[in-house]
Amino acid sequence: MAEHIVRFADRAEPITVRAGTLLVEAARRLGLDIQQPCGGQGRCGRCAVRVESGRVRRRSVLRLSKADVEAGYALACQTVVEGDVSVVVPPVEQIERRLTTDHVAPEVVVPVGYDPEKAQTIGRVFLRLSPPSMDDQTDDWARLCTALRRRTGIDRLRASLPQIRELGGTLRSSGWHVGLTYDTAGEPPGTARLIKVGPMASEASEPLCGLAIDVGTTTVTVFLVDLLTGEVTAQSSEYNQQIARGEDIISRIVYATKGGGGEELRELVLATINGRVAAVCGRANIEPAAIVKATLTGNSTMTHLLLGIPPESIRLEPFITSINQPPLLSARDVGITMCSDGTVDLLPGVASYLGADITAGVLSSGLRSSAETTLFIDIGTNGEMVLGSSQWLVSCACSAGPAFEGSGVVHGMRADRGAIEEVWIDGRSYEPTFRVIGKGQPRGICGSGLISLAAEMFLTGILDKGGHIDESLASPRIRRGSHGAEYVVAWGGDTANGDDITITAVDIDNLLRAKAAVYAGFNVLADRVGVELDSVERVLIGGAFGKYINVEKAVDIGLLPDLPWERFEFLGNTSVKGAYLSLLDREMRAEVGEIASAMTYVELSADNSFYEAFTSALFLPHTDLSRFPSVETSMT
Ligand code: FES
Repeated sequence: MAEHIVRFADRAEPITVRAGTLLVEAARRLGLDIQQPCGGQGRCGRCAVRVESGRVRRRSVLRLSKADVEAGYALACQTVVEGDVSVVVPPVEQIERRLTTDHVAPEVVVPVGYDPEKAQTIGRVFLRLSPPSMDDQTDDWARLCTALRRRTGIDRLRASLPQIRELGGTLRSSGWHVGLTYDTAGEPPGTARLIKVGPMASEASEPLCGLAIDVGTTTVTVFLVDLLTGEVTAQSSEYNQQIARGEDIISRIVYATKGGGGEELRELVLATINGRVAAVCGRANIEPAAIVKATLTGNSTMTHLLLGIPPESIRLEPFITSINQPPLLSARDVGITMCSDGTVDLLPGVASYLGADITAGVLSSGLRSSAETTLFIDIGTNGEMVLGSSQWLVSCACSAGPAFEGSGVVHGMRADRGAIEEVWIDGRSYEPTFRVIGKGQPRGICGSGLISLAAEMFLTGILDKGGHIDESLASPRIRRGSHGAEYVVAWGGDTANGDDITITAVDIDNLLRAKAAVYAGFNVLADRVGVELDSVERVLIGGAFGKYINVEKAVDIGLLPDLPWERFEFLGNTSVKGAYLSLLDREMRAEVGEIASAMTYVELSADNSFYEAFTSALFLPHTDLSRFPSVETSMT
């Protein structure tokens, strides 16, 4: 049999092997250990190497994209030598990054050509007023308005009573030289709302700032934005303190209906927001009074609770909000610690379960600027999804339960330090390998870890199509526990608290229901507009769910449609990005309003086809395997 020379980039000596030898074997003989988490079955992609020159034959390219193969990547466990070859083994971290975060868009960037004069509704002018005299008896307010009109053309200024009360003192103590900040948002042409007046010297030295805030059910994120440059000068996130009163939307609504519960929840979310505002102000070394505008997003329940609006009707048929498009409010009314007459702008939502977080997400995802059929999804305890293009938008929301957020399962936890976030199982020994967030010993399994684990259990035969654990398999990891059959992912000796980390039959059942609800939602939307799911050209994934999830594993269990890998894109926190864009640019703010108005919302509980689609999707990956050709290939 022919022999060939294999060179590995970081080994001085080459090795001679027989034609047909696996690259992983050639490496092993040179003492080079290439990791094989899936036991060399071509399923995990972690053994990827780059073939720089020479002939090889790839038996499988399951975890590689077309572009990867063109760039020379090959799975060392699935690729055999057919000529003299030179190979580079990339660092482990590089492979991890490529497989998990390559498609993560960069954090916010200032829009190209940002010009606050044109884009902003906020304006600040410096006025030198002539003091009143016995010959000039004009009142303080008229004096200010006249000077403003002369400088800006704004001929009507609205103000609150507290502002009028303070005006005389401010004008006199500042020697009639003042800085005036106003907002034209929501006002007719030629009209503005007064935000603040202060001594010229102190106003001129103060930055002009805004806040973009995403009030999530789980996490509150705050961006501090310099409105003159558009830059995010500081950002901060924290768990929503309401979590202590319920993990998901429904439990918060129920809590709000108890005596005083709504007010308590309002205070908790305000404390969270104001804590983060204090943090970003501290980091940027500014006073909260320099913040003159805040643009907020959040699901409809969060915005209701923040504004102190009773949310009960959201969970009761026919599922109606009190308001989808709140008016502009002042920081004083809402309770945000910033300039007290600063504008608070809550972006518009569409329905009880399709809030401003999604309209903002659609805006920042750029879905509307493309003619391609695009699916935008944001999955947490609720699965919200929008199918559309520049011409049309149709949306729905389903209850996914807490499984994807790592709760509602025995050893579930949030995607935090110590969470198992990805799992590979050797199909012969049923032994797992896993990756833990922050490295170290595992404490539990987060949503992406559960998806990954279920996919591996299915592909290795531990789970059948119905999601049942095969207890006849010979492995100490498959056993009977207090919740029925279970699989031990980590033995107590290897975990942070000394307990075995397991996944039980009940956990699997919860996960199947969650993924079936989401996939059924996709189906209903596609049916509504008469497109096939496999004709979707882009899938944009927003929210924390997309941060760690492995698309292929999500396809393996039938959560995401079986589309080429390249069509998926992770966008991170699209909600706060949408708030940021709306804060900066009046046209973007107008567009998010158009998105909310243009979106057709499908109420799934009133849609007969949903239940049928849900039942079909309760299997792994689906009752109709032809919808998941890549999974079919992995199974054979
Ligand atoms: S070891 Fe090669 S793909 Fe998993």
